[in-house]
Amino acid sequence: MTDTSMGHIIDGFGYAKGLRERLAVKVAELKATQGITPCLVVVIVGEDPASQIYVKNKGESTIAVGMDSRTITLPDTTTEADLLKLIAELNADAAVNGILVQLPLPKHMSSLKVIDAIDPLKDVDGFHVENAGKLAVGLDGIVPCTPLGSLMLLKDAVKTYGGGSLAGMNAVIVGRSNIVGKPMAQLLLNQDCTVTIAHSKTKNLKELCLTADILVAAVGRPKFIAGDWVKDGAYVIDVGINRIEVDGPDGKKSKVVGDVDFDAAKPHAKAITPVPRGVGPMTIACLLNNTLHAACLQHGLPAPEGL
Ligand code: GUN
Repeated sequence: MTDTSMGHIIDGFGYAKGLRERLAVKVAELKATQGITPCLVVVIVGEDPASQIYVKNKGESTIAVGMDSRTITLPDTTTEADLLKLIAELNADAAVNGILVQLPLPKHMSSLKVIDAIDPLKDVDGFHVENAGKLAVGLDGIVPCTPLGSLMLLKDAVKTYGGGSLAGMNAVIVGRSNIVGKPMAQLLLNQDCTVTIAHSKTKNLKELCLTADILVAAVGRPKFIAGDWVKDGAYVIDVGINRIEVDGPDGKKSKVVGDVDFDAAKPHAKAITPVPRGVGPMTIACLLNNTLHAACLQHGLPAPEGL
């Protein structure tokens, strides 16, 4: 029976947990049948506190699904040439299946140049131009983690609450980054959505958002999307992770909110991701998915299906 009620909360935390469990089974199978343990290397340059937390979580999650994890920490005085040399060594190391260089990099480095030095088969972020190009022309490659996780949640929500596919739906993506907005647009186009990318120069943004059956917010501004920008019955995917100060009983405290005003948008939405526990946990789960995928491709094995 089709569920016609509104305001369902999309449980990204639960979905990510299930995905990590399914990945752990596939990793154990790969080990038992082929003697291969996928290995992810994360490189962090400098001491950005948020990046340090992300990198620690990535390492712990990698170990938890049975993969090998290495973290390489470099000082922010590292030269671009030294980082490129390290990447060349990791590219040549057959025991390394995935390489992730944590962004942002210090200002004296070109992140485009660094990312493009990674072997595209080991580029588990899916940021290399070869992987971006493959996504654009509909070839199999490695897909960026946050858009991939967002699509998984969206497909599951539409199946659960709408009963159908995404084909023909109007999707509006607010944000045009290489990491989220642009790959998300390609993924939704590949699902036969009609896709619009909005950005800081877009005119009549509220009116545009109100046309969206699928609204993806990836602007990095707290509660930027107001409740009355959401069309009744829309699916809302909030990619934002913004730390703000709010008044607490003992003074100011910090809180994480998304790019959407969740409480105001929820009554309009058919289903909406919360922040935290929405898209965020999917990013790491998809990184593990991409590492397993990369390890299989490097050994000439088919990528695991049915995850
Ligand atoms: N910094 C914030 N998000 C990401 C990500 O998805 N990949 C990398 N490499 N750095 C990030």
